[in-house]
Amino acid sequence: MSDKIKKAGVVGWPINHSKSPLIHGHWIDQFEINGSYEAIALSPEGFTSGIRTLIAQGYQGCNVTIPHKETALKMADTISNQAKAIGAANTLVFKDGKIHADNTDGIGFINNIKQGAPNWLASDGSALVIGAGGAARAIIHALLEDAVPKIIVANRTIEKAAHLAAFFGDKVSAVPMGQIGKMLNETQTLVNTTALGMTGQPELIIDLYNIPKTALVTDIVYNPLKTALLTQAEERGLQTVDGLGMLLHQAVPGFEAWFGARPIVDKALRQIVLAG
Ligand code: ATR
Repeated sequence: MSDKIKKAGVVGWPINHSKSPLIHGHWIDQFEINGSYEAIALSPEGFTSGIRTLIAQGYQGCNVTIPHKETALKMADTISNQAKAIGAANTLVFKDGKIHADNTDGIGFINNIKQGAPNWLASDGSALVIGAGGAARAIIHALLEDAVPKIIVANRTIEKAAHLAAFFGDKVSAVPMGQIGKMLNETQTLVNTTALGMTGQPELIIDLYNIPKTALVTDIVYNPLKTALLTQAEERGLQTVDGLGMLLHQAVPGFEAWFGARPIVDKALRQIVLAG
């Protein structure tokens, strides 16, 4: 066994707000791994050469965040199906000088729901996805992989929702935000993928009166942890899952690939990230 330090990190611009060092740092300590995980600021102009430098320095890989997720995909030698479908990478694994690009946002989304609502199945019924940005793309792909029968995408800019529907095929259709109320009675999984409801952003205003009692409501916003959408859903007796777990679960595959141990997402980790 080599006692060489295993290095990874998160690359972005700016990068100081990233929670990833807290998450991976906790797992490195927990497994007593001889490793490091740091935040690395790389400007858009310096991204490609910066990644080459990390490879030369013996890094195992890195997470990539805004604004590098698409560029990372372009410079990869191999690309996972998820990253291909999402059109962006958030996890790079370096091996023998080559770059493998993956996107773990979708699996993070699914595993977060499965942990928070163990009886939930994507195949139970239609999903209503609010938003049509990068996060929505990852979530739609993951729901389809998990055998959801139908997805409706509601977005302020209907063209973007229509574009996603055309990309993902005939299980996915697009509606304007104003149609959400009408769609709720056939919704089993409701997902907010926009920043609406986040501290400092406008609220997401939806009346859930029409949604089945068996539905699950989840939000990718985790600041606040309990958004107005989740509060309303809870008051109606619906199952809810908050967005913090998606951030934590998306980190699992990268950690395992770089450090060779599969971490778990538990309450202690949630507390560390909330406090950090
Ligand atoms: P991400 O990669 O996090 O998904 P994004 O690609 O910028 O971010 O997408 C943001 C999503 O939030 C979009 O669906 C956006 O709607 P538009 O496509 O109409 O821009 C949605 N969004 C952001 N602010 C919004 C607002 N104030 N009202 C409604 N939707 C909003």
